Amino acid sequence: MGFIQKLKERYATKAMNGNVVPQEKIDNILEAIRLTPTSSGLQQFEVYVITNVDVKVKIREIAWNQPQVTDCSHLLVFAAWDHYTEDRINHMFDLTNEIRGFKNEGWENYRQTLLAGYPKRDPNVNFEHAARQTYIALMAAMTQAIYEGVDSTPMEGFDPAAVDEILGLRANGLRSTVLLPVGYRDVEKDWLVNLVKVRKPMNELVTTID
Ligand SMILES: Cc1cc2nc3c(=O)[nH]c(=O)nc-3n(C[C@H](O)[C@H](O)[C@H](O)COP(=O)(O)O)c2cc1C
Repeated sequence: MGFIQKLKERYATKAMNGNVVPQEKIDNILEAIRLTPTSSGLQQFEVYVITNVDVKVKIREIAWNQPQVTDCSHLLVFAAWDHYTEDRINHMFDLTNEIRGFKNEGWENYRQTLLAGYPKRDPNVNFEHAARQTYIALMAAMTQAIYEGVDSTPMEGFDPAAVDEILGLRANGLRSTVLLPVGYRDVEKDWLVNLVKVRKPMNELVTTID
């Protein structure tokens, strides 16, 4: 089935039924995240996959008590790098050389450009840049989920500092950006499930300059 049809099918699930998503489907969703393009190919974030009930309960408490946090099967937490360091940049450039099996002058020059520019910037500017990349991965994850017949809810309704604390993210140089509970809709309890999707018309979205 086509991509547009899948986008029409997905919705921000408001109630989940607690059923477990098979590991193969979770693996495919994570693979979609892994394949997501990122600025300079740095993949400047990590994903925590939470099935632990106690941790889910703690996160729900600081996520506006949203039930999907505990009633999902797997709770994905996107966590962006808190800063760009030389080590982090070098790691991805070295990995590229290792996988491709050769060094390229243009690529090495680009490495030096990033090394000269990124680490000295304000950490918050770097975090915000890294955080934006997590949203590209979020969309990839939501889309793959719907191809897997799995529901999800993108969530910014939580206290990021509290999630950082619960998961010990800052010690790993990470900061949470967005959550994605993944699971199956509870048709009885979900007020959104049968409502028509609302999007503004194309002429309010697109300006064409010929
Ligand atoms: C980044 C982001 C954060 C969101 N945060 C929440 C949230 O905390 N809780 C929630 O129920 N929905 C959340 N939503 C869902 C949106 O409200 C929803 O995607 C939007 O109204 C469009 O509806 P649809 O996704 O069902 O098509 C979020 C969506 C995005 C993209």
